[in-house]
Amino acid sequence: MDDKIFEGQVALVTGAGSGIGRATAELLSKQGASVACADINLEGTHETVAQIQSAGGQALAIECNISNSEEASESVETCVRELGQLNVLANVAGVLAMEHAHLTQDEVWNRILGVNLNGTFFTSRAAIPHLLKSKQSAIVNVASLAGIIGQAYCAAYCASKAGVVSLTRVMALEYIKQGLRVNCVCPGAVSTPLIANFSPPENADIDLIKRLSLVPKSTEPEEVAQTISYLASPTAKSINGIAMPLDYGVHAG
Ligand SMILES: NC(=O)c1ccc[n+]([C@@H]2O[C@H](COP(=O)([O-])OP(=O)(O)OC[C@H]3O[C@@H](n4cnc5c(N)ncnc54)[C@H](O)[C@@H]3O)[C@@H](O)[C@H]2O)c1
Repeated sequence: MDDKIFEGQVALVTGAGSGIGRATAELLSKQGASVACADINLEGTHETVAQIQSAGGQALAIECNISNSEEASESVETCVRELGQLNVLANVAGVLAMEHAHLTQDEVWNRILGVNLNGTFFTSRAAIPHLLKSKQSAIVNVASLAGIIGQAYCAAYCASKAGVVSLTRVMALEYIKQGLRVNCVCPGAVSTPLIANFSPPENADIDLIKRLSLVPKSTEPEEVAQTISYLASPTAKSINGIAMPLDYGVHAG
C-alpha cells in the first residue's frame, strides 16, 4: 500500500494509550493521518502522542471514558475542533474479565458491556455526522474471536464483542450509500497487557477453554494495526460489514 495513504486525513483512535490502539495510532500517523488519541489512561496516551510527535507526526491526547456517552461525544468534538475534520474512526478501547457466568456480578457485566459495546456505539454515534462530511470515510471496530465463537467464562466479554460484530453490520448497511464503510477485526490472541492479565476464574474446567489453546501463537499489535489501516484505506473500498478474524483459522473449526 502507498506509504502516505491517509495524508491530509484525520483519525480518531480509542484505546490509543496501549497495545493495539497505540500501534494503530502510530501506523496511521506514519501513513499521513493526524491522529486524535483517546483513552481513559491519559499517561499512556501522552506516551503515544510523544512517540508520534518525535517521529514528526501530528497527534492530540484526549482523556476519555468511552462508556460515558457525554465523554465519548466530547472526544469526537475535541478531535474535530482541534484537527479540523474526521475521516477514520478506530474503536479499539476494550476491557476483559473472566468469570463463571452464574457468578458474574452486575458491576463486571455492566463495565464490560459499558466499555466494549456501549463505548463503541457512543463514539460511533457521535462520529458519524462528521464522517459523513467526507466522500469516503471508515469506521473499524476491534471486536474479537470471542465475538464469533463462544468462550467459557467470558459471558460478558463474548456478549459485548458479538454486539460489536452486529453493530458493525448494521452501521455498514445503513451508511454505505453515503460513502461510510464500517468493518471490524476479530483477533484471537494479541501480545498486549490485556492478554497478559487474562486468567481463568477459580475452579475453571480447563477442558472448556482448550479451544483457546488452538490459537498457535499471539499476533503482534502491529499486525492488527496493519489490518485496521487496510480496512480503513481506499484499497478496501468494496469491503463493508465484515468481521475479519486474525486467529490462524480457529474460528473455522
Ligand atoms: N489482546 C488480545 O488478545 C485481544 C484479542 C481480541 C480482541 N482484543 C481487543 O483489542 C482491543 C484493544 O485491546 P489491547 O489488547 O490492545 O489491550 P490494552 O489493555 O493494551 O489496551 C486497551 C486500552 O483501552 C483503554 N480503555 C479501557 N477502558 C477504557 C474506557 N472506558 N475508555 C477509554 N479507553 C479505555 C485502556 O486504558 C487501554 O489503553 C480491545 O477491544 C480488546 O477487547 C484484544
